[in-house]
Parts: sequence; structure tokens; C-alpha cells
Amino acid sequence: MTDRLSRLARSWDEAAGGYEAYFVPRFAPWVQAAVDAVRELPDGPVVVPCCGTFPELDLLAPRFPDRRIIGVDLSAEMVRLARRRAGERPMVEVVQGDASRLDPAWSPAAVVSVFGLQQLPDPVTAIRSWYDVLRTDGRLRVLYWPEVIEETGPFELLDKVIGAERDRSWEDALLPALDGAVIERDELISYPMTHPDAATYFDAANHAGPLRALALARGDDYVADLRERYVAAAPAGEWTHRPRARLIAVRKPRSRAGAARPTS
Ligand SMILES: C[S@@+](CC[C@H](N)C(=O)[O-])C[C@H]1O[C@@H](n2cnc3c(N)ncnc32)[C@H](O)[C@@H]1O
Repeated sequence: MTDRLSRLARSWDEAAGGYEAYFVPRFAPWVQAAVDAVRELPDGPVVVPCCGTFPELDLLAPRFPDRRIIGVDLSAEMVRLARRRAGERPMVEVVQGDASRLDPAWSPAAVVSVFGLQQLPDPVTAIRSWYDVLRTDGRLRVLYWPEVIEETGPFELLDKVIGAERDRSWEDALLPALDGAVIERDELISYPMTHPDAATYFDAANHAGPLRALALARGDDYVADLRERYVAAAPAGEWTHRPRARLIAVRKPRSRAGAARPTS
């Protein structure tokens, strides 16, 4: 495993319990939207790369009770919580590993991933590899946080205080990388999300979310300074915003001749 991947794995190990408590309920409408987009599948398993604590499973399992459902995540602690969520369901397995490439032997009927793609070192190669392992007529549903999620709000302010550089070129390359696919949907999906206040959101991002990896890399003093600047620049009190995630839904046609542009 590269240093970057092992630091990311460690950061999600530390974040996992808090992520389940703080972010999973707030992200639930997007998980629902991604799973609702999974319909009319051929036979075969459903694979969920970057499953985290596996909230997708609560919706997938009742919808596909007789199918094998496989979650994949890098973080041992996420995998532990995902297995706890899976319980005794015999058709469900959770595999620890790098989801940038999936086992072609799974030959999935569907690959469904929520808020994982933007974490991967090479999202363009990953989305193509997820498509490639699909069986004919299989469905790929990928929901991810784009580089620009909102014009103003808690997520945007965090990027601003960090001084994050935005490179959207990989996002523009996603659909071209899916050459041969039938593009069924490509849209931005937003729902309201509320945080008790700016400090609570910052602390959740730091201890239970995506800021953990940066905190591990840069140290406590850096994060303390970031927090001070964040809270000073944020509005007081409860904070509601409408972040936008991108949903890409494609089908693998029987032949390349079946490929077409978006139908909705
Ligand atoms: C924001 S969480 C999303 C989890 C879940 N899908 C959800 O919607 O709540 C992102 C997850 O991606 C995982 N992840 C990041 N890079 C990964 C990689 N290369 N392979 C597998 N999982 C990865 C992290 O461990 C983390 O659990």
C-alpha cells in the first residue's frame, strides 16, 4: 500500500465511529438517490466500492434479498462497522482492500458507489475499471462530491480556509472514460443539510470525516489554527446548506452499437 493510501486508511479508521453517527444520517438522502437509481438488473451481485460503514446496505438488502451484495473499503474500522451492519445476512460480504480496481471474477450486475470516487488517487481510471467489470446490461451508479459542491456553506468555507486548489479536469474526463456506455443520468443532486453550528461541523469533519487525513498529515497546531479561522469566518448558530453531489448512472450495452447519450 502506498503512503498516501495507508494514511487515508488510518484517517478513516479513526473517523469511522463518528462518521456513522454524524455524517451517515446527513448523507442519507444521497444514498437513497443512488440506490433508487438501481433497477432492472441482470442476474449477478451488487458491488459497493468505498462502502464505509455500508449505509447503502440498509436500502440494497431489502430491494435485492436474493443477491450477493459485496462491500469494499480500505479502512479496517469501516469494514468492522460494515460487517456489524451486515449482521448474519448470508448473502452479504465486506472485503477490506483498495477499491480502485474490483475483482473481475465478481462480474457484478451493478456497481454502486456513494461518496468514494473523489477519494481515489485516480478517479478516472477507477470509474472505467468499475464499468469494465460489469456484466453485459449491468448498471453503474456513482455519486460523488465534485470539486465545487456549493457557492457558500460549511463545505466551501472549509476548502477556503484550507486554501484547497480545485482541479476539475478529472471530473470532465469521467464520461469520456466511459466510452461505449449508455449514459442514463448525469446530474447534480442537492438536499438540505443542517449542522448545529460551525464549530460542531468543523469538529465532525476533523474527527469523523474527510479532514482527518489532512489533520494526520499536518498535525494538531495546524488544525487548531484552521479551526479558529473557520469559526471566525462562519455565521453564528445553526447552519443549513444545500450541497450538490454528482450522480452518474450508466448501463453496459450488449454491444457498442447500443451506446447513446443521456436519456434524462
Ligand atoms: C465518505 S466515506 C463514504 C462511505 C459510504 N459509501 C457512505 O456513503 O457513507 C468514503 C469511504 O471511502 C473509503 N475509501 C477511500 N479510499 C478508498 C480506496 N482506495 N479503496 C477503498 N475504499 C476507500 C474510506 O475508507 C471511506 O470509508
